[in-house]
Amino acid sequence: MITTPPKQTQLTVLALHPTHAELLDQTALPATVQYVTIRTPQAMADAIQTMIVRGAPAIGIAGAFGIVLSVRIALKSTDSVEAFHQHVLADAQVLRQSRPTAVNLMWACDRMLALLATLIASQTPLTEIVATLATEALAIHEEDLQANYAMGRFGAVLMPENARIHTHCNAGALATAGHGTALGVVREAFAQGKCSMVYADETRPRLQGGKLTTWELVQAGIPVTLVCDGMSGHMMQKGMVDAVIVGADRIASNGDAANKIGTYNLALAAKAHGVPFYVAAPSSTFDLSLASGGGIPIEEREAEEVLGVDGVRYAPEGVKVYNPGFDVTPASCITAIITERGVVFPPFSANLKALLV
Ligand code: MRU
Repeated sequence: MITTPPKQTQLTVLALHPTHAELLDQTALPATVQYVTIRTPQAMADAIQTMIVRGAPAIGIAGAFGIVLSVRIALKSTDSVEAFHQHVLADAQVLRQSRPTAVNLMWACDRMLALLATLIASQTPLTEIVATLATEALAIHEEDLQANYAMGRFGAVLMPENARIHTHCNAGALATAGHGTALGVVREAFAQGKCSMVYADETRPRLQGGKLTTWELVQAGIPVTLVCDGMSGHMMQKGMVDAVIVGADRIASNGDAANKIGTYNLALAAKAHGVPFYVAAPSSTFDLSLASGGGIPIEEREAEEVLGVDGVRYAPEGVKVYNPGFDVTPASCITAIITERGVVFPPFSANLKALLV
């Protein structure tokens, strides 16, 4: 267990400046706090792909910032509205394709492109379009922060007194505009005196739990115990866990939820032991065009992530690797979904539609 005195976490994960965007380099954490300057949409797409910025809401915001960089560059390179539009559409395509599973990225790019199309249709001057899209990107950032505070308040109500909460991956301030989705609930529950311990899965292969969730919670003075991914069944069998809370990368209309690989195993263990399993996600994470989780594209990443740790290989030459980045937890394993608009209980199809459409 790691405990430090409570203090406020003030992390800037993403920032948009007049000439560039700035990202907290999550690949260097927790050893080093360093920022990366991003000047082009292509560089933003690379930063998303290499996980300098990661977490579903954060990569949505990064996509929106990438489109702002695109319109700024387009403004300098052409006076033609048609060429300007085509330039931005091409960049948006690169951004959208940088990671496939988290729908927040597509949602944010589409929101920016829809506004762009409206402004072009109303013959808005290009300089004004650039300014309006920057304002929109900042609005996406601010809305995400407020959504996290709201989810924290809704989710904390569900936590029992002295809750020992198990989480997976990093669904915290680092994965969002700030505060976090699942960790936003943890932060609020802790502030209300209701959270006595967080169990953070290390989250192989990239160790978002071991590196990022632990770092965030230590900074916040919230008691955290780091555990290996395979320990949850044993811990629940021993009565050590009162609730599980995770984030999500895409939730289908029936409530099936894609999240970091290993989440499904945790959900199965929770179901077997009668431990409530909560998913916290903003409305930008829902893909109501999908009937079920079977339609969610699952990212497969490079073998090196599994063959070793931090580039240090331990597996023998010649071994095959399977490295899906996400899995889908069926709605039947989920007790409730916490959104910024309220908590949704089963039956998810009807109740999500009522809340979100
Ligand atoms: O591959 P990552 O680190 O981007 O995956 C992140 C997760 O799976 C998070 O749990 C999810 O995005 C929710 S973040 C609020």
